[in-house]
Amino acid sequence: MQRLTGVKTLYRVGPDGPQGEVDAIADGTLVWREGKILWSGPASELPPEYAAASALDTGGGCVIPGLIDCHTHLCFGGWRGDEFAMRLEGKSYQEIQAAGGGINSTVRKTRAAGGNELADKAALALSDMAALGVTTVEAKSGYGLNLEDELKQLEVYRQLNASQPVEILPTFLGAHLVPPDYVDRRDAYIDLLCHELIPQVATRGLARFCDVFIEDGAFSLTEGRRILETAKAQGLGLKIHADQLSTGGGAGLAAELGAVSAEHLEYASPGDMIAMAEAGTVAVSLPIASLYLQEPYLPARQWIETGARVAVATDFNPGSAPSYHLPLAMLLACLNQRMSPAEVLKAATSIAARAIGLESTHGSLAPGYQADFAIIDAPDINHWLYHFRGNACLATFKRGRLIHGQPERWSV
Ligand code: NIG
Ligand code: FE
Repeated sequence: MQRLTGVKTLYRVGPDGPQGEVDAIADGTLVWREGKILWSGPASELPPEYAAASALDTGGGCVIPGLIDCHTHLCFGGWRGDEFAMRLEGKSYQEIQAAGGGINSTVRKTRAAGGNELADKAALALSDMAALGVTTVEAKSGYGLNLEDELKQLEVYRQLNASQPVEILPTFLGAHLVPPDYVDRRDAYIDLLCHELIPQVATRGLARFCDVFIEDGAFSLTEGRRILETAKAQGLGLKIHADQLSTGGGAGLAAELGAVSAEHLEYASPGDMIAMAEAGTVAVSLPIASLYLQEPYLPARQWIETGARVAVATDFNPGSAPSYHLPLAMLLACLNQRMSPAEVLKAATSIAARAIGLESTHGSLAPGYQADFAIIDAPDINHWLYHFRGNACLATFKRGRLIHGQPERWSV
């Protein structure tokens, strides 16, 4: 049994209540055993049965639930720095894609890479993410776009779940783009997804969720519906890349099909916002993608006023969001989505957990939750996000064990 002392502010957070309700406890303490939280609250109220727990002094930092990056495209071959330069010269993301670049360029590099090579590359990113306080990551396929290479990406996630400590929730995104060899027979690709890939992914338990990119140039609403209904019938949870570059109705479809989340949403219609709020579908905002594509940011105030829950994630991928810095995404959500630090903390912990179906076990420091937490070098989250540094995370714990931080300083 272990406990934290010297905590200036402990953010217990929790799945219920308004977006900004984070249950901040001054001079708090946290007790855990074997990967589970036993107790959290003011240090002065520590029940006597926990007084014998070995104590770890945080030295006045704040403690938050482990951050959850609920939207990434973690596994990919190569990078696209050349396209970054082209976009700065005025070419649009869609123009680059139409000329054979964009997602297709990463598909070529991902197909050419071996599973071990992809896993080693993703593991480096995960270790950096852990250092930032991230303990759980949703990760999509979508750069294989054929049976062999989609499964290869999902196998990489399975391998990483066994070989490193950051927990990965895999999502099948075979419907990221129609691959070049199918552009003249789109239905054949959708048949392949519905008749072969989704059944294999579902039977082999390789993904929890199925995602579709609904956008001009990607998949239509009708195509998306067919793919998602197939996935739902096979027991996969649903997600949609919706209304990112234009108003396409993806948010409304997410609500209608009971998707756990819809993502991007910069162009979602007011009617679809209401539908998502009523359905309890989480609105995942991806401000790093808005930053890099110089697109509008999610109008978070409008979403929150509508009654929707807003998550914040990185969208880490080699094109629209080549950064896995979740605290940076949180800062951008404060500055450009007009969210408070408390709202973004909940957006990247408990609400992010909800976006991957884990809100009753992850993203909170209440008793019974998994002991995933980060110790931040700031007295509170206002100071943390305001005084932005490369990394303010001193230590990260996953299932009660240190996964980032100096072992001699942080071992209990
Ligand atoms: O979420 N919108 C679609 N997919 C990714 C971008 C993928 C890429 O550019 O490689 C996104 O932004
Ligand atoms: Fe994405």
